[in-house]
Order: sequence, then C-alpha cells, then structure tokens
Amino acid sequence: MTETTLRVSKIKDGTVIDHINNGHALDVVRILGINGQTNGTVLIALHVPSEQLGLKDIVKVEGRELKPEEVDKIALLAPQASINIIRQYAVVDKKRVKLPSIISGTVTCGNPACVSNSSEPIQPKFYVKTEDPLVVRCHYCSHIMERQEILRQF
Ligand code: CTP
Ligand code: ZN
Repeated sequence: MTETTLRVSKIKDGTVIDHINNGHALDVVRILGINGQTNGTVLIALHVPSEQLGLKDIVKVEGRELKPEEVDKIALLAPQASINIIRQYAVVDKKRVKLPSIISGTVTCGNPACVSNSSEPIQPKFYVKTEDPLVVRCHYCSHIMERQEILRQF
C-alpha cells in the first residue's frame, strides 16, 4: 500500500469489518454498541472505492472480537461483509458473514398482535425469502419485514 492509497491505518489487535455495504458503517457501529463513551480505538471509513462493490464502508475495532450475535446482526444489514481477526498486525482469520435461512433470536416481529410478542415464552422465528433485497417472513403470523424495518430494532 502506498502513501497515496492508504486511507485508514492498520490495527494491531482486534477486528476489521470490511466490505460493508456502502453507507452502513454507522449501523454496524451502533450494533456493536460503540459510542463516544466506549473505550478503545475505532476507525470508521465511509464510501471507500472498492473493486468488488463500487463503494464500501469499513469499521476497525482495536482490542475486541465480535460476539456471534453481533455477527448475525451485521449479516442482516451487510450481507457481503467480511470479518477479519487481527493479531500482531496479521490477519489470522477471515470470514464472510452468513445470513441463515431461518433467523431466530436477533429480530422481533413487527406485528404487535403476533403470538411471539405476547406474554407466551415464544422465540421469534423468521424465514429468509430473499437476501437482496432482504425480505423475511414471520413463522407465526406471516408478517413480512424488510431490511429498513429490521434495522430500526437494532
Ligand atoms: N487490516 C487492518 N490491520 C491489519 C491488517 C489488515 O486494518 N493489521 C485490514 C485491511 O486494511 C483490510 C482488511 O483488514 O481492510 C483485510 O486485510 P487483508 O486480508 O490483508 O486485505 P485484502 O486481501 O484486501 O482483503 P480481502 O481479500 O478480504 O478484500
Ligand atoms: Zn409475527
């Protein structure tokens, strides 16, 4: 990498979430619970030219690895994202996020009358109908939800 192309510095230990769909880095930051009060260096890059995606976003978090639930949420808003684990400046693990065909645990049904929103101990469950654009259907009430509605819950 040369002086003219370096946009965000490398990190020493932590996680790089790369190939985030253009414009969604701040949603990733919110999912990770990062704000002005949290500790640790965080680098956020928006609208970075990318050969594969045209433009992409990147989030680099020092000193932290992600919980599986956080990775599952990122998959819902940035299905092309890759999660790179960095140790001593080297990429020691690289994984594409993966949208499961059934989503449970991370999303609640937008239909207030749905049995999964009642006092019954029922775990919400959704089937992924299409990934791009993201459309999911509630197992219990067939309510359809799209990416924007899901994002509002995070
Ligand atoms: N990275 C970093 N700090 C490091 C090592 C890597 O911030 N110490 C970042 C790189 O800038 C890149 C991502 O982690 O955004 C993945 O690094 P690498 O696998 O080296 O880059 P590429 O081969 O370009 O990745 P890909 O094939 O996933 O596009
Ligand atoms: Zn429902």
